[in-house]
Amino acid sequence: MMTTTLWSIPASTLSTDDLKNKATVLKQRLLSITQRFSDVRFATSLAAEDMVLMDAIIESSIEIKLFTLHTGRLHQETIDFIKTTEDHYQIQIQSVYPQESNVALFVNQYGLNGFYDSEEAKKACCGVRKVKPLTTALMGADAWLTGQRREQSSTRVELNFEELDDARGITKFNPLFDWAESEIWAYIQQEQVPIHPLHLRGYPSIGCEPCTRAVKKGEDLRAGRWWWLQSGSKECGLHVQP
Ligand code: ADX
Ligand code: SF4
Repeated sequence: MMTTTLWSIPASTLSTDDLKNKATVLKQRLLSITQRFSDVRFATSLAAEDMVLMDAIIESSIEIKLFTLHTGRLHQETIDFIKTTEDHYQIQIQSVYPQESNVALFVNQYGLNGFYDSEEAKKACCGVRKVKPLTTALMGADAWLTGQRREQSSTRVELNFEELDDARGITKFNPLFDWAESEIWAYIQQEQVPIHPLHLRGYPSIGCEPCTRAVKKGEDLRAGRWWWLQSGSKECGLHVQP
């Protein structure tokens, strides 16, 4: 019988000094953001990059509010891991939910899992469950952070540290934009950061349950996200640039 080898957490090839330098620069970036803006918020999906950022925020004792978009279609593992993370760091992560009436409208029009059938339905589902709640979560904020990295996808190769979130008219930061996958995992191992359980089951990237699956060794890191679509359209609208 053929067995498939799934993606697994990469071994670290980084020296302790290199990792220390990388972490120092990351903390300087975070500090520079809080010196310029008074209400900074971090959108965390609890995946590996976001756990590195969360650890660095807490280590730096800086004032950045944490929230997660609780789409209503997350894996049970993600929901449980929110609590694990809160207990580990003794922090609170605000869960932001979609508006029930908007979800009902979507389900009536397209069906609960209508996103498999058309690009339009997928956009509508992500709009209702992620993009609108993100706007709500950022009301009153003057800057926000993401865990995006350039290496993650062809749609992110030009990602910068700082950009303008046109949709919300505030500044958006990607403090890990230049980090490699192996550096993320080296930090996690070195600092003993809690690991989302799906990363141990072949998932390099974590989104909603019906739209995310494990990937094979050597496959694109985002191949398991909206796996039925071509790689160019594997974005949900959270990070669309004009
Ligand atoms: S997505 O656009 O395809 O869903 P991805 O999973 O790569 O995004 O995550 C990129 C960044 O978007 C994360 O580092 C995080 O900042 C933010 N993000 C993604 N999903 C969520 C979520 N459910 N809650 C909060 N932030 C999220
Ligand atoms: Fe809906 Fe899938 Fe987008 Fe989640 S990732 S909001 S389930 S289309």
